[in-house]
Amino acid sequence: MKKPCIVLGVTGGIAAYRAPDIARRLVKAGCEVFCILTKNAQNIITKQTMETMSKNPCVVDMFESPKSWEVEHIALATRADLFLIAPATANFIAKMVAGIADDMLTTTVLATKAPVLVVPAMNTNMYENPITQRNIAALSALGVRFMEPTEGMLANGHIGKGHIPEIDDIVRRALDEMSAKAAEGDLKGLKILVTAGPTREPIDPVRYITNRSSGKMGYAVAAEAARRGAEVTLVSGPVALEKPDGVNRVFVQTTVDLLGEMTSRCEEADIIIQSAAPADFRPLTIAETKIKKLGGDGMVLELTQNPDVAASVGKLKKEGQVIVGFAAETNDISENARAKLLRKNADFIVANDVTRPGAGFDVDTNIASIVSSEGVEDLPLMQKSELAAWILDRALAIRKAKGKP
Ligand code: CTP
Repeated sequence: MKKPCIVLGVTGGIAAYRAPDIARRLVKAGCEVFCILTKNAQNIITKQTMETMSKNPCVVDMFESPKSWEVEHIALATRADLFLIAPATANFIAKMVAGIADDMLTTTVLATKAPVLVVPAMNTNMYENPITQRNIAALSALGVRFMEPTEGMLANGHIGKGHIPEIDDIVRRALDEMSAKAAEGDLKGLKILVTAGPTREPIDPVRYITNRSSGKMGYAVAAEAARRGAEVTLVSGPVALEKPDGVNRVFVQTTVDLLGEMTSRCEEADIIIQSAAPADFRPLTIAETKIKKLGGDGMVLELTQNPDVAASVGKLKKEGQVIVGFAAETNDISENARAKLLRKNADFIVANDVTRPGAGFDVDTNIASIVSSEGVEDLPLMQKSELAAWILDRALAIRKAKGKP
């Protein structure tokens, strides 16, 4: 298989001293890396260091004569799967906004159609200067990706924002950008049905029972599926999240409403991802008027069990359909998830221990285990958007294994 190609542009900030390590780590991650230095970057690192770390020739001068490979800027611009500028100075970002092409790096960036990921690193005041911020906003609007600098000790001894992020984070983000690009359009033609959020079970006209589900996981799945070209229907409980672009959203209130929507929609779906947290119980009766507190007595609320929506959808499963369930657990994660896998006739369950920091309700990250008939796979802490991509990759692979295009 062809290795992904990253062109690493290095500009003349003090953080350029980290560039050899970035190159080395990208090579180790299986990428082909070509480095381009600006003239000023050479005040901090040498061409020879970058060549040793990237295992490829490194270019500075546009008019340098080609050696055994094509150094001309168009060749590199075309070959790149990703253009990574790390570190990027304020000066370089300003030149990019203006479309200036006066050296090998600026010229090659202008000539590439590959995604460009810029990692600014500079003095805090320069970073926060409205001119730099305006330039970053203008480039972002044109589709250039940026990583936020971190807070840390800067070259002048002050602590502030402008520090280059951890190398691990830069490498991971670069690889993510490339896989996101590679996955674009891979779900075209597929109908994906996603559930998200809690349900609300009314007690009386002013009160209800609900749970802590934020809906963020399901919304991340719907957004990622739409971005990759699927026709997405998102059946959402009451949450205040914005509708992801290109998604058809249907709101429901109660678990019984959710059951109605899902049983009528599941037949035509190719992939069903059920990340909603439907309330398992509802009040046996709903008071028509507000329940009053009478005297100082307590109150007994009689509940009845709600239908298990995922189990009903599982019973209607069609040949070739892929069904994914979730499991919010606080103990015995894999045993409980395995029972849910069978009960809901799912292809896999995304289980998480909602008591762990960084997992579960109302946070942007998750720590999941994937439970299938093949066993349990523990995933590291990741953004819900990354987990969404991961879930869709796995669902698509299962669909293909079922012989579906
Ligand atoms: N689910 C469902 N209908 C319900 C409850 C859950 O469709 N009434 C779905 C969820 O969307 C999720 C999966 O079932 O995909 C597991 O949800 P979870 O709340 O973890 O488990 P329960 O089935 O409710 O089991 P328990 O409460 O006993 O853990």
